[in-house]
Amino acid sequence: MGREPGSYEVSAEFYDLLQAEDDRRRAERRFGHAARRATRGVLDVGAGSGIVTQVLLAASAVPVHAVEPSPAMRSLLLSRLAATRADRRARVTVHPHPLQEAGLEQVADLAVASNVVACLDPTTRREFWKHVGTALTPGGLLLFDPPPAAPPAAREHVGTLGPVRVGPDHYYAELHQGPGDGTVRTEFAYRVEREGRVLRREHETFELWPAAPALIAEELALAGLRPIRWSRSDLVAARRD
Ligand SMILES: C[S@@+](CC[C@H](N)C(=O)[O-])C[C@H]1O[C@@H](n2cnc3c(N)ncnc32)[C@H](O)[C@@H]1O
Repeated sequence: MGREPGSYEVSAEFYDLLQAEDDRRRAERRFGHAARRATRGVLDVGAGSGIVTQVLLAASAVPVHAVEPSPAMRSLLLSRLAATRADRRARVTVHPHPLQEAGLEQVADLAVASNVVACLDPTTRREFWKHVGTALTPGGLLLFDPPPAAPPAAREHVGTLGPVRVGPDHYYAELHQGPGDGTVRTEFAYRVEREGRVLRREHETFELWPAAPALIAEELALAGLRPIRWSRSDLVAARRD
């Protein structure tokens, strides 16, 4: 069976092993405070493997809506929820659609889009803001990672994940980014080694859509979202009017 590029079908296998612990600490630092203050509900849009969802559930006492369209990522999300305390699991609703198809209206006073906006092409992104606005109550807060402002000039190595040991094997991922077709092409090359010998290699490519901060500000305004904190690389915060 063929694998769709950018569907997470390859990456889902390695995600928890290579990224979960760092991602969890980062999510607690970035979203814990806002989640503790939520009084109506929390929207985790593009919930992925559910690491952020679990942090939001632990920090808040309100319903959490986890929106995740990718079946591969959703299976990690549901496995994580299966191992979550029953009282917390009772507070989460999993929406197996893109946000634009989830039909959520005024369900949350906090929306979190962790590493999601860059994954959206410009047409989808414009729709996305509108649906975030509809899902938030008036005065609700949106926290998101801004997309890169522009594609890089040349392909470059941007990081290594691992090694993480599983029995006799070591797991790694090498990350490269380069210019795509108006996009930032992001390549994950996974490798499993035993006694210094490569046992397996897997590969998945994602296209990220860059957008200048001024364009994002314009799009947010059209959706009734008012930026209250800007950052080029860290979280951006916006409030629904
Ligand atoms: C890079 S992952 C980030 C996952 C998670 N938020 C995290 O920080 O670990 C981006 C996620 O956004 C999801 N996604 C992409 N388009 C979406 C959309 N239109 N609505 C909701 N989720 C979307 C993808 O399926 C993917 O799981």
